[in-house]
Parts: sequence; C-alpha cells; structure tokens
Amino acid sequence: MDVNRLPREVWGGAGAYERYVGRWSRPVAREFLARLNLPAGRAWVDVGCGTGALSAAILATADPAEVVGIDRAAGFIEAVRNGIADDRTRFEVADATQLPFAQAGFDVAVSGLVLNFVADPPAMLREMSRVTKSGGTVAAYVWDYAGGMGMMRAFWDAAIAVNPNDAKLDQAERFPLCQPEPLAALWREQGLQAVEVWAIDIPTVFRDFGDFWEPFLGQQGAAPTYLASVDAQTQERIRAYLENQLMADAAGHLALSARAWAVRGTVGGR
Ligand SMILES: C[S@@+](CC[C@H](N)C(=O)[O-])C[C@H]1O[C@@H](n2cnc3c(N)ncnc32)[C@H](O)[C@@H]1O
Repeated sequence: MDVNRLPREVWGGAGAYERYVGRWSRPVAREFLARLNLPAGRAWVDVGCGTGALSAAILATADPAEVVGIDRAAGFIEAVRNGIADDRTRFEVADATQLPFAQAGFDVAVSGLVLNFVADPPAMLREMSRVTKSGGTVAAYVWDYAGGMGMMRAFWDAAIAVNPNDAKLDQAERFPLCQPEPLAALWREQGLQAVEVWAIDIPTVFRDFGDFWEPFLGQQGAAPTYLASVDAQTQERIRAYLENQLMADAAGHLALSARAWAVRGTVGGR
C-alpha cells in the first residue's frame, strides 16, 4: 500500500484511545514530570493534550498555577473538559503549529506523544518556544517506534510479515524523528539550550491476548487506522500471527514494555 493512500491517523474517540494507548501514556507522563522536576506555581501549556494524560499528571504532581491544553481533535477536548474538573485548567481546540497564545505567556511548554504526528514538527517546536518565557522549559516525548514500544513494534512486525509490501507504513519508517539524535538536533536547531534526551521505560502488562488485540480494532492512532484499511482476511492473518508470537506468562498475562524518548531544553534570552 502506498503511504499516501493510507488515511491520516484518526483521533477523537476518547474511549477507544484510552483502551488503545491512553492507559499507557499516563504512567509515561508521570515519569516524564518526575525527571523534569520543576517547581510549583508554574504556568504550563500541554500541546496535543488529547484525553488529558499529561495535563492530569501535571495537576497531580507539579502543583501548577495553571494548565492550558490544546488539541486539534474536538472529541478529545470535549472528553478532557468533562474529565478534568479543576479551575486551574482550560482546554481549547487549536493546532499545535499555530498556538492561539501571546509570546512568553507560559513557564513550561510540554507535549506528550504528539510531535511525530504533526505535519511540521519544527513549526510546532517554534510555537512551543515562542509561547514560553526566557529561561522556561520546552519538553516533549514520543514513543520509540523502532524498538522499545513493544506493543506497536509487535503489531508492525506482524503486519509486515503478513504484507511485506506495507513495510514503509511501519511507524518506525514513517517517524525517524522518534530517536534520540534527531530529537536533540531538532531542539538545538530551534535555539533551545541545555538540551537533554532520555529514555522512559514502563511495563505494559496485558490481562490476556484479547486485552492486547481488541484495542487495535478501535481505529484510533496509526496502527489501528492501518488495520481498519485492510480486508477482514488480512486482519485475521495479522491477529493470528500476533497470537502465535506473543508468549503469555504462567498467569496468562502478556508482559511487554514501552519506551518513550523524552527531550528537554531551555528557552534562551530574547
Ligand atoms: C498519541 S495522541 C497523544 C495525546 C496525549 N498527549 C497523551 O499523551 O495521551 C496524539 C495527539 O496529538 C493530537 N494532534 C495531532 N496533530 C495535531 C496538531 N497539528 N495540532 C494539535 N493536536 C494534534 C491528536 O489529536 C492527538 O490527541
């Protein structure tokens, strides 16, 4: 299949997103914030806030003055408004590459698992830097599609084994940005200082094969969007391949792990 014929990732079904990967993005958000270790009382913007995994973690662990989240998917913004009741928060529909905020209005700009999905990542980073005060922090994380994000790696290995012609649709191929050197280079190219990249590893333990597989049928994100684009017979071959490859432990659980690459930098003087 030609990569240009694949529909763009679908986002906005909050329940399906939570079952697919939202449940794993929450522990990653907490690890990320622990490492940032920023003081209380800061104004944060969460770019591509989705269903609110990172915003909720900021509220729970960073004692912020305010958290403003934006996302392009109206369904997610509606869900996060319903899900987070805290008068320090505001959530708006907006594009990551055209933030509807004045220059230098925030102390911290963060983004979880978004950067590779925007058409122009440097433009997104420019905007995150623009809205952050001098001396403030701009930081983000993305899944390690090429290796450490076990559930997605297993999926694409199976999809390509079944359909070798679709190898170029693998998220590792589509998103070369999601590796330490390209992330650090992007941050430096945008003039950010004291740039640092690190790995975040979390366990992703599935109750059984159904708990692993069924969320891929929810059509949220790149792998489920791909799965929805192939015929029923191909879907079944991918499912069978995965069921055969993934080894359950004695309790029937599938114990995988997920790695994200995180990057931070400091906004220089203007
Ligand atoms: C994998 S989800 C991550 C959501 C959330 N940050 C989390 O950690 O669970 C990617 C998000 O990026 C959003 N997104 C993609 N492109 C965007 C853009 N150009 N502007 C704003 N949001 C965008 C999607 O709507 C989706 O909510």
